[in-house]
Formats: sequence, structure tokens, C-alpha cells
Amino acid sequence: MKLAILPGDGIGTEIVAQAVRVLQALDLKFEMEEAKVGGAAYEAFGHPLPDATLNLAKSADAILFGAAGDWKYDTLDRPLRPEQAILGLRKHLGLFANLRPAICYEQLTHASSLKPELVAGLDILIIRELTGDIYFGQPRGRRTATDGHFPGALEAFDTMRYSVPEIERIGHVAFQAAQKRSKKVCSVDKANVLETFQLWKDVMTEVGKSYPDVQLSHMYVDNAAMQLVKAPKAFDVVVTGNMFGDILSDEASMLTGSIGMLPSASLDKANKGLYEPSHGSAPDIAGKGVANPLATILSAAMMLRYSLAQPEAAVRIEAAVQAVLAQGLRTPDIYSDGTTKVGTSQMGDAVVAALSTQG
Ligand code: IPM
Ligand code: MG
Repeated sequence: MKLAILPGDGIGTEIVAQAVRVLQALDLKFEMEEAKVGGAAYEAFGHPLPDATLNLAKSADAILFGAAGDWKYDTLDRPLRPEQAILGLRKHLGLFANLRPAICYEQLTHASSLKPELVAGLDILIIRELTGDIYFGQPRGRRTATDGHFPGALEAFDTMRYSVPEIERIGHVAFQAAQKRSKKVCSVDKANVLETFQLWKDVMTEVGKSYPDVQLSHMYVDNAAMQLVKAPKAFDVVVTGNMFGDILSDEASMLTGSIGMLPSASLDKANKGLYEPSHGSAPDIAGKGVANPLATILSAAMMLRYSLAQPEAAVRIEAAVQAVLAQGLRTPDIYSDGTTKVGTSQMGDAVVAALSTQG
């Protein structure tokens, strides 16, 4: 099993190092190769996604990714910004299915900004289409307006678009995921305003006919944003487009108390995937040894499950994470009175130790 290890920027290096230790503590054989990505790659090679990094990612069975981005690159031309690395990997590797679980761990119920009873036991799976929509739609750019409210003015434009097969394939991912869970899919759209999402809704309805055991509902994105904070436990699998999924997955992550806990998987049609924490590079705390490595460690567990066919190892990692939470160990982002504050590497130590004491 060949793994591409792409730590990236900010806290990426610290948290990926802990996930690598956890993988090495399993009785499995991995070949791991590391490469620079994002701002780190820009500094070293003048490009956020150098060919060598892309080729390594292509040749690997799975990719463990830390984070890309730092405010200090905000003034670079867009193609050179760190974020282009993750967008480029998604595009070049065809990683169209983004799985973002939002799970509220029992011990962290009180870390949520919502009332504990609203989030206790929360377990939502957001499935975000990742290679289409307004993120990648052409044409895009700047031009002089020839119509609209201010003809002659400089304007910028992007294109929201989805084709039927693009919607179908993410629909199948969602329905199949729901079959393994509570058999409910909520498709989020803006069909009341947007052509793109009227098509989305129509296609989801068609795809749903092949899954009579799964209950499909539709919801407008604005209402979904509201329902997510009103009654989040009413959701199970949520499927939506790239842009809405970006926004709703951040919202859902905070229901759980800490974005520092949430893993993600981005899969291609053969389940090869890129695994990364749902949080970003957090440059404000980078290098301080306080970042929470658990989202990355849990991403490694998802990698074992989805791309490496090692579900038992995935369960072991998840159980080890539960064990350290039960021991009361907390990085600052999830700390509360009565628990023990630890740093990034101590948290990694604890997970490795918990693995070694499993029966
Ligand atoms: C995410 C991030 C990315 C996105 C950025 C870094 C390009 O916010 O993975 O959610 O918008 O998809
Ligand atoms: Mg985002």
C-alpha cells in the first residue's frame, strides 16, 4: 500500500506527523512518500502543486493531506495560491465525492455552541460534489459589462453548471451511503431560483427511483442552513453541490463542538481517495504544538476503510480516539473544565498508546 503524504502548510505538518505515527503503529505495511504541497511547495518550487507532487499523488493508493493556505499568500496571482493545490488535486485525480461526517462525540457534547440535547448523538454525513459547480465552471473571469445595471463597468463572473452524469454519480454515492446508514437522503438545492439546481433536483429524484429502500427528501439550501442549527439530528445523509456543500459542511462541523475532530474523504470513481481534516491550515496556531491532530488521525482511519480495504484497522483507530477522549485528554480547541489539556504530540502519543493496549 503506497501512501502519498502531503502535509502542506500551517498546522498541516504537525497534525500529519501524528497521523503517520498512528499508521505506523498498526501492524500493516505501508510505503510512505512525502511531498510538498500548497504554500510550502510554492516556497520551494514556485508552484503550489508541482508535477512531482501531482505524480506522487497519482501513483499512490491513497493520499493523506494536511492543509494548504496562509494569509501571506493572499496577494499572489490566483493560480499560485496554496488553495489551488487542493483544487488541482481534486480536479486532476477526479475526486468528485467528498464525504464529510459530522459526529458529535459523547464527551464533547458540551463543546458545541448548541444546547447539548440538540447535538447529543449527532451523526450526519455530508456528501459534497467536489469537481463541478461554480468552483470549476467555465467561463469565468473579468470583463467590461455590456449589459446589466452598469454597462461599461468592470465586472467579474463565474459559471454554475452541472451535467446529468455528474449529478447521477454523486447521487449514487449518497444513496449507497444511506443504504448502510439510516436510509434517508436529503438533497439540498436552490431549485426555486437556479436552473442548475432544478436539474440537480430532477436528477436526484430519478436516481432515487433505483433505491426504493431509501427515503429521499429535497430542501432549499437556505432552509437547510436553518434546519441544521434548529434540529440537526433530523438529518442523516445530506447530498449537495460543491458550493453549498462547502458552506454547509463548515456549519455542520461546528455543531459537533470542534472542527478539530472532523475527518474527510474525497473519492474518485474507483474509491481511490485523498483524506484530509475538514479544518484548514490555522496559521495562527501553527508551530505552537497545540493543534488537534484527531481530525487527521480519523482521516487516516477513513483512508483505511475506503481506499485500503482495512476496515478493522479503521475501527481500531476510531476506538483509540474514543479511548483518549474518555481518558479526558483534550487539545485546547476541545478543552473544558475538569479535562486535561494536552498538545499535538501528546495527543498523538496517547492515541498510539491506546492502540497498543487494545485487546
Ligand atoms: C474546503 C476548503 C476549500 C474549498 C478551499 C481551501 C479551496 O474550504 O475544503 O472546504 O473551498 O473547497
Ligand atoms: Mg470549506
